[in-house]
Amino acid sequence: MSFEFAVDPKSIFFRCVEDSGEAIMISDTQGTLVYVNPAWCKAYGYTKEEAIGSSPKLLHSGHQPQEFYQEMWRKILNPSVGTWKGELVNKAKDGTLVPVQLTITPFKDDDQQIAGFMGIAANMSYQKELETKITHQDRLASIGLLASGLAHEVGTPLGVIRGRAEFLMMQTDNPTMTKNLELITSQIDRISKLIRSLLSISRSVSELNIQTLNLHSVAEEIIDLVGQNLKEDSVQITMEIAENIMIKADHARLQQVFLNLIVNSIYAIKKDIEQGKKRPHFLKISALQTGSQVDIRIQDSGCGISPENMKKLFKPFFTTKDVGEGTGLGLAIVAQLMREMGGKISVESKLNEGTTFTLGIISGQSY
Ligand SMILES: Nc1ncnc2c1ncn2[C@@H]1O[C@H](COP(=O)(O)OP(=O)(O)O)[C@@H](O)[C@H]1O
Ligand SMILES: [Mg+2]
Repeated sequence: MSFEFAVDPKSIFFRCVEDSGEAIMISDTQGTLVYVNPAWCKAYGYTKEEAIGSSPKLLHSGHQPQEFYQEMWRKILNPSVGTWKGELVNKAKDGTLVPVQLTITPFKDDDQQIAGFMGIAANMSYQKELETKITHQDRLASIGLLASGLAHEVGTPLGVIRGRAEFLMMQTDNPTMTKNLELITSQIDRISKLIRSLLSISRSVSELNIQTLNLHSVAEEIIDLVGQNLKEDSVQITMEIAENIMIKADHARLQQVFLNLIVNSIYAIKKDIEQGKKRPHFLKISALQTGSQVDIRIQDSGCGISPENMKKLFKPFFTTKDVGEGTGLGLAIVAQLMREMGGKISVESKLNEGTTFTLGIISGQSY
């Protein structure tokens, strides 16, 4: 059946469709696009001219299997169902993925034959983002609860076991026995370390205390703490922070943010050295004040982060480190702490070159 597509541009129905905020497309029975509205063009980045005459397959992202579309069409063409509504991921012209809630409705001609299909897509990007954020936060909150429970329930018996192992070590001259007891204590210490880092999340739930702080001195405190570790590997650590920069932050939270980021940087540099890369290594902490915001940069010359891992960086339990070395909680905590202080965090990285984390914090300077 041939498809006639004539519209009266003055018709109120046409104006409604044309001005709708939802992306609307109309295809003929062959699946050729005959109309798209401006919201559709905006959502997917194609012009009207590019879209009309082509197929909606243009939008396929590969995120749905072939069977998904078969099932969809079976429902649409089944007169007792007649319409389809569901969530799917489309792809815009520039490759961006666009999650949408799509409704496809067949419309009929005067002879009650299907003349074409109308698809209305509501953009779900915002909802999807929100959903992941919420589950992420839920996950962190439950880790916090778990951690404080664990610290009490497991921490105490662990302490007892460790004490007994040490007592037995003093009682024996048998080298095999001593070696095994040492193994026991070192494994216990490993568990304790994990519990401690889990606990730091529940600690982050402690009351927020935003003060005006001198950034230079907070950074110095942390550098003093980790500096020794770096000197051993002859890594240069430099601080470029003007002594008069003041910020509004929570002292304990900011310390922890610094510590987690610096520990990660040290690890990344060491990894790079282990791989035999001999370029000069550095770790630089600098700050720049722009208006009412202070940007703090923690820059390292470490192994860098692959684009694939960049996406997972802030997810709880994401780690590339060996069991016992990393918990994958450091950056999840950092992100949480920054949120609590009303700050921002972003990251840039190049594999085999290094990584820069930027913290955006409100300035404590009053003008
Ligand atoms: N400065 C950095 N350079 C390279 N990789 C990093 C850096 N910071 C974080 N990463 C990567 O992000 C992962 C997650 O970090 P984090 O949340 O602190 O957990 P963990 O340090 O326990 O692995 C690390 O395993 C590492 O792969
Ligand atoms: Mg870490």
